[in-house]
Amino acid sequence: KKRVVSGVQPTGSVHLGNYLGAIKNWVALQDTYETLFIIVDHHAITLPYDTRQLGKATTDTAALYLACGIDVSKASVFVQSHVPAHVELMWLLCSSTPIGWLQKMIQFKEKSRKEGVENASVGLFTYPDLMTADILLYQSDFVPVGEDQKQHIELAREIAQRVNHLYGGKKWKKLGGRGGSLFKIPEPLIPQAGARVMSLTDGLSKMSKSAPSDQSRINLLDSKDLIVDKIKRCKTDSFAGLEFDNAERPECNNLLSIYQIVSGKKKEEVMEECKDMSWGTFKPLLADALIEHLSPIQARYQEIIAEPEYLDKILSEGADRAEELGAVTMRNMYQAMGYYQRR
Ligand code: TYM
Repeated sequence: KKRVVSGVQPTGSVHLGNYLGAIKNWVALQDTYETLFIIVDHHAITLPYDTRQLGKATTDTAALYLACGIDVSKASVFVQSHVPAHVELMWLLCSSTPIGWLQKMIQFKEKSRKEGVENASVGLFTYPDLMTADILLYQSDFVPVGEDQKQHIELAREIAQRVNHLYGGKKWKKLGGRGGSLFKIPEPLIPQAGARVMSLTDGLSKMSKSAPSDQSRINLLDSKDLIVDKIKRCKTDSFAGLEFDNAERPECNNLLSIYQIVSGKKKEEVMEECKDMSWGTFKPLLADALIEHLSPIQARYQEIIAEPEYLDKILSEGADRAEELGAVTMRNMYQAMGYYQRR
């Protein structure tokens, strides 16, 4: 079976962007592929964070994976730090990554802007190598993510190719290995709709966990009242009617797109339904559709979180499976890189 790997950082709360850009699309892949869904806690410490929140955010994120439809009889769900090979492989990959490749990463530039590059942590800088390790450790074929992660996956592809070239093939064979490629070259899977969910307060910036205003995002666990309130107050425009794909109306495109996905309708249907609507008519419709879509997820989340032992068991089994798969890659890497093995 081909493999799929993806993850979400346990920082703040999971929002509609994470859901529509990533998690929702994972669900459809579980039947066809061997899937591994990670709560990437090592990524979450690269920016200043609250130590009292990390553990809770980790189990919350895991519970939300399940509540959104990840089925552990098909998929492996686990915590990144529970499988030490992620960091181990990252170190090996770091030594094959030119500094210049990391300096080109847009997310690093954006995330280091606030404190300045000089003050950003080394962890934030090398973060793409850790993400690359998450993907390559399992010889992943596909990586379902939102648009903002595309560059990181391109980097993962380049690193995989470089390592294959530096250490694979004949050189590896001479060291007693199988020869050939050490890594598969992964491909991103970016959805048609939902790849870039925008902020509710600014249609030109993406919905994010780190935006200071909670009004800018819908969190998956927001109450009904809060959702109604956020939609009521979200930014709109003063054009007549509603339409997709008008560059002058980024908010309109964003809200219609969200409505389209959560209502499960086709784009043409939504176009027809909403073309003559005013914001006053559309907003309650959108809020209702969101509530209807998120309510069952929230109910399942409550059930799961009420049984911590169950969740721990799932995470432990997931880590066992991941460890087993990852061990193959680690053995090959150490061999191909010429390390002396413990006997
Ligand atoms: P993170 O935690 O920032 O986001 C998790 C997933 O949500 C997607 N996403 C969005 N999609 C659409 N619209 C938005 N506004 C939006 N905001 C976030 C992201 O694209 C992502 O798919 N480095 C990654 C996590 C990671 C990972 C991995 C992913 C670590 N290792 C290995 C795949 C494979 C990150 O910080 O995502």
